[in-house]
Amino acid sequence: VSSEQRVRVGLGDRSYDIWIGPGLLPRLGELAAEAVPAGRLFVVAHPRLERLHGAALLASLEPRLGGVLHVPAGERFKTLHRAERLYDELLALGADRTSVIVAFGGGVIGDLAGFVAATYMRGLAFIQVPTTLLAQVDASVGGKVAVDHPKAKNLVGAFHQPRLVVADTEVLRTLSGRDYRAGLAEVVKHGAIADADLFAWIESSQQVLERRDPEAVAHAVRRSCEIKADVVARDERESGLRAILNFGHTVGHALESLTGYTTLRHGEAVAIGMAAAARLSERLGLCEPGIAARLEAVLAGLRLPIRIAGLRADDIIAAARSDKKAVGGALRLVLLRRLGEVEVVAGAPEEEIRRVLISLGAVE
Ligand SMILES: NC(=O)c1ccc[n+]([C@@H]2O[C@H](COP(=O)([O-])OP(=O)(O)OC[C@H]3O[C@@H](n4cnc5c(N)ncnc54)[C@H](O)[C@@H]3O)[C@@H](O)[C@H]2O)c1
Ligand SMILES: [Zn+2]
Repeated sequence: VSSEQRVRVGLGDRSYDIWIGPGLLPRLGELAAEAVPAGRLFVVAHPRLERLHGAALLASLEPRLGGVLHVPAGERFKTLHRAERLYDELLALGADRTSVIVAFGGGVIGDLAGFVAATYMRGLAFIQVPTTLLAQVDASVGGKVAVDHPKAKNLVGAFHQPRLVVADTEVLRTLSGRDYRAGLAEVVKHGAIADADLFAWIESSQQVLERRDPEAVAHAVRRSCEIKADVVARDERESGLRAILNFGHTVGHALESLTGYTTLRHGEAVAIGMAAAARLSERLGLCEPGIAARLEAVLAGLRLPIRIAGLRADDIIAAARSDKKAVGGALRLVLLRRLGEVEVVAGAPEEEIRRVLISLGAVE
């Protein structure tokens, strides 16, 4: 009996499957043969992750393996400069237009390898093998690939859908507690924006989630992928609906940028951002009182931060305004109607946003 599950991302002739479950890495070769029958495979990975989990994966790809390309761990390597080095290595290894890029790692590897796949020889087939919870529930699904620019994160990128995503939930065992919890923030987000049942399940599952119970983790990953896949299938290029995935991200991105992308994990910044969005939703009368407290209780229960320390409210607002997702400098916030339903709101009164940030600990 196999315990894995499959989620389909429906995008016409660019549709693909996300496989989720324990022990999938040794089957990657077989799954890849179905999704992309021909071409040599080039794996992009961190050396440490390859040592931890690479053996079974590489053995299963062996007959088609063209090479393993290494990138050191860390957001600071998600650059055009690194992409260029990868082009050089691919060229030296004889990668051609039939070759396939396999991203084996967290969101950094997925975004960087995906960007290389989108651009090398005008685009190669691409397989995502996400190894962090954040990448399994979010980054590996939806086709956004990018590298950072010194002035802005994810500034240079493309839409390039993978042909296959394989999320082996067993590899999450070796993830640091902080990275694991940061991934849970995006699961909470999926519940808050689209699925009250998922949200209630998280509320009652904090202990099993905390100890990374395999069934609980697989459920969290599957529901997240289903929700994200559904949103992406209806709005692949973010002309509307897809913006709801940015719940908590306007303030979250501002906090990340103000703290130099090193103090806070992305998911931690999003947790604080979700608390802010929920409080603002209440203040503006968009949702009933008590919703913010419920959301904050879940986040705190998962040991995610919900307080802003040492930053000025005005600086956070200014940073949010300069985010690339702001249109013409106007803040567009994703706010809650209730748990499981959100709305994109433009032009929320700045004074209200300030009040909310201060209530969360920002400096006046
Ligand atoms: N494309 C998208 O839609 C999208 C969405 C969300 C985030 N992102 C991007 O994702 C990136 C963040 O991703 P992340 O949080 O996965 O960070 P990450 O890729 O840097 O991984 C975090 C750390 O965990 C290590 N690691 C990975 N898998 C491991 C495992 N199984 N066991 C032990 N250690 C492991 C990595 O080496 C790294 O040090 C950001 O660059 C962000 O912009 C992209
Ligand atoms: Zn996010």
